Amino acid sequence: MRKILICSAKGGVSKTTSAINISSALNKLGRDVILVDCNLTTPNVGLYYGIAKVERTIHDVMNKKGDIRKAIYLHKSGLKIIPGSISINSLKKVRPEFLKQKLNSLNSEFLIMDSSAGLGRESLAALDACDEVLILVNPELPSVADGLKLIKIAEELKKEIIGVVVCRKRGKLEMKMDAIENLMDNRPIIGVIPEDEHVKKALVREESVFNLYPDSEAGRAYNRLAHYLTGEIYNNESKKGFFDNFLEVLGLK
Ligand SMILES: Nc1ncnc2c1ncn2[C@@H]1O[C@H](COP(=O)(O)OP(=O)(O)OP(=O)(O)O)[C@@H](O)[C@H]1O
Ligand SMILES: [Mg+2]
Repeated sequence: MRKILICSAKGGVSKTTSAINISSALNKLGRDVILVDCNLTTPNVGLYYGIAKVERTIHDVMNKKGDIRKAIYLHKSGLKIIPGSISINSLKKVRPEFLKQKLNSLNSEFLIMDSSAGLGRESLAALDACDEVLILVNPELPSVADGLKLIKIAEELKKEIIGVVVCRKRGKLEMKMDAIENLMDNRPIIGVIPEDEHVKKALVREESVFNLYPDSEAGRAYNRLAHYLTGEIYNNESKKGFFDNFLEVLGLK
């Protein structure tokens, strides 16, 4: 089971959006995926997918006896989701130290873990529980500088760093991709997700942008990223030429 943590040092970078869309795209590729909300204090996955009120959440099983498999919710798309509870009472009982052991009792090809922001106890528990990390940044200096800190911590914990994903790229007045790579210790940028209003539209409709608008800029960028993770060749060049897509991947377009 590939346990991949979607993380960033700063808040609001696009972790949850990316976790749900990478999961959706992997699911569409026919992969067995469990998306798990490891953001235990401010869980959002359930809200993004319109399943905020399920019978059992990760919070209900984060104790000695709880069976995490009982908190798996089967989404209509076929994706398995373990959401968090949005109740304040659940917050008080949070025990991140159980996360690793609980996740190890799951079984699927991919475990996509949405992380909380920062480098606190909760984020570190998620980092400890995963094997591989995707480091998300926005194309701005503070975000990238903090991303480097996360790289260093992941290295110390001997986690495999798959690469960097630049989220919410708008174009003008932003850091260039090669400058980001330089600052990120030359870790490769493996995905560039543009700012796209379809993301907000999907949020309102409580679905992933990939499921609702697969041909949107963001939808295609997440599809490309999912292909990268599986090692499959992305072959959706029908709407744009190969060269356009190539430039997009490099963040030059
Ligand atoms: N590519 C995008 N285009 C437009 N809006 C986006 C994009 N990615 C994320 N957003 C918006 O940015 C906001 C923050 O996104 P998200 O919740 O995914 O961030 P996060 O890193 O999970 O935040 P937190 O640290 O609070 O968990 C949301 O309103 C989301 O809709
Ligand atoms: Mg989030």
